[in-house]
Amino acid sequence: MITQIDHIGIAVTSLEATIPHYRDALGLGEPHIEEVATQKVRVAMFDVGGVHIELLEPTSPDSPIAKAIEKNGGRGLIHHIAFKTDDAAAQLTQAKNAGCALINETPVPGAHNTQVGFLHPKSTFGVLTEFCQH
Ligand code: CO
Repeated sequence: MITQIDHIGIAVTSLEATIPHYRDALGLGEPHIEEVATQKVRVAMFDVGGVHIELLEPTSPDSPIAKAIEKNGGRGLIHHIAFKTDDAAAQLTQAKNAGCALINETPVPGAHNTQVGFLHPKSTFGVLTEFCQH
């Protein structure tokens, strides 16, 4: 079951260049930073009342985030929306049964010890959609 928006993923070319905007201009405080090797990204998470802003910096040119930035003319962009669920695997199955194309057939490790799975934007009206289980 989906319980809330977990985070909004934003692709950025540089965490160092982007963090001050969220930390200082918006006043969201210090982010939690970690590398997610499986997704080839470094992540900075800002807590906004229980929903998070997830800044994603590619760590490799073949990172999905690097490709998204390249497609966007080298600029960062809002990349995906993540729904918090108590069962990411069941959520993927439900979406598949409803006709959605899956990027992940089963959940994979995400940031912050989560299990995550993505739906392909070709079957979600253009919005890359993530399920996130804590
Ligand atoms: Co995410």
